[in-house]
Amino acid sequence: MSKDKVILGFETSCDETAIAIMRGEELLVNTISSQVDIHEKFGGVVPEVASRAHAEMIRNIFHSSLNSANLQISDIDSVATTDGPGLVGSLVVGYNFAKSIAWSIDKPLYTVDHMVGHLAAPLIENPNMEPPFLTLLVSGGHTQIVLVEKWGDYKLMGTTIDDAAGEAFDKLSRFCGFGFPGGPAIQRIAESGNPSKINLPRPKTKHEYNYSFSGLKTAATNFLKNIDPDDKITRADFAASYQEAIVDSLMINFTKAVKETGVKNISGGGGVMANSRLREKMNILANDNNLEIFLPSPRLSTDNAAMICVAAQNDLITNDLKENDVRLSSIIK
Ligand SMILES: Nc1ncnc2c1ncn2[C@@H]1O[C@H](COP(=O)(O)OP(=O)(O)OP(=O)(O)O)[C@@H](O)[C@H]1O
Ligand SMILES: [Mg+2]
Repeated sequence: MSKDKVILGFETSCDETAIAIMRGEELLVNTISSQVDIHEKFGGVVPEVASRAHAEMIRNIFHSSLNSANLQISDIDSVATTDGPGLVGSLVVGYNFAKSIAWSIDKPLYTVDHMVGHLAAPLIENPNMEPPFLTLLVSGGHTQIVLVEKWGDYKLMGTTIDDAAGEAFDKLSRFCGFGFPGGPAIQRIAESGNPSKINLPRPKTKHEYNYSFSGLKTAATNFLKNIDPDDKITRADFAASYQEAIVDSLMINFTKAVKETGVKNISGGGGVMANSRLREKMNILANDNNLEIFLPSPRLSTDNAAMICVAAQNDLITNDLKENDVRLSSIIK
């Protein structure tokens, strides 16, 4: 795909209706309309409600995105959309809208794997990022260490055997009533806390690079159930200690994988990579080992459509990791 062309991207795999427009490497518009207010009262994303909200909003967001970029529909050279994994009802809305636009202007439609989108996200701000590199993908549904030897050649070195890192934040936050989504809520509360105040486990698995977070969540909830008022533990101490346990767990395996592979470049992506403590530790790892580091800024770590645009522009479309099977492009012809 020629890099000076205009590409329109859609991402509706969960609860963000996201549309981006890029002209070559220039990000013209990056609209992310979050449904947080709608799902907050349920303490989590309700799939049926999410797909309805996408359907209600997508047309207006499309027109306002075109207006902000000062473009006409005829200026678009290609269209890209996420085709999985994600909530099927939500994916269908963005996928079909993207397909109709591509059809109506007779331009190609690229269907992009959502996790490849997260993996490609650093390219939005660093178009020169090149493999080989090791990436830590941490989001609401995934926790993966992936070795990218060449573009399109992905080796899954570690994954979670139960909850994803984002889920570990979200579930504990719901239990404690800290807010939704849990990651940003816990980060905010943790700011004034002492991360060493409570001794929480850094769970290990049989496979040295795999993750497990369900035991940590149980240890944290058990701690709360048996809390001794004389210990004077604050909400901030508790949140900071829990956040530190997740971040440490992520970094222990990732650091091991960096050493074993001998890579010189590292990167990251997914909503949890917006976490300031995790970003700090990733940067320390890079500085201590003279590595180049490519992290998308926090706004481009969480779900967005610019990552879908850059993945399509660079022909990074499919995911050979096959951890998730549903792909709309194989169902809707
Ligand atoms: N600052 C933060 N600190 C920790 N976690 C965060 C932060 N910001 C967002 N998250 C977490 O990121 C997750 C959302 O990330 P993302 O939008 O990539 O997930 P998703 O698209 O639902 O899942 P997936 O990408 O696996 O399909 C949530 O679990 C949220 O709590
Ligand atoms: Mg995501």
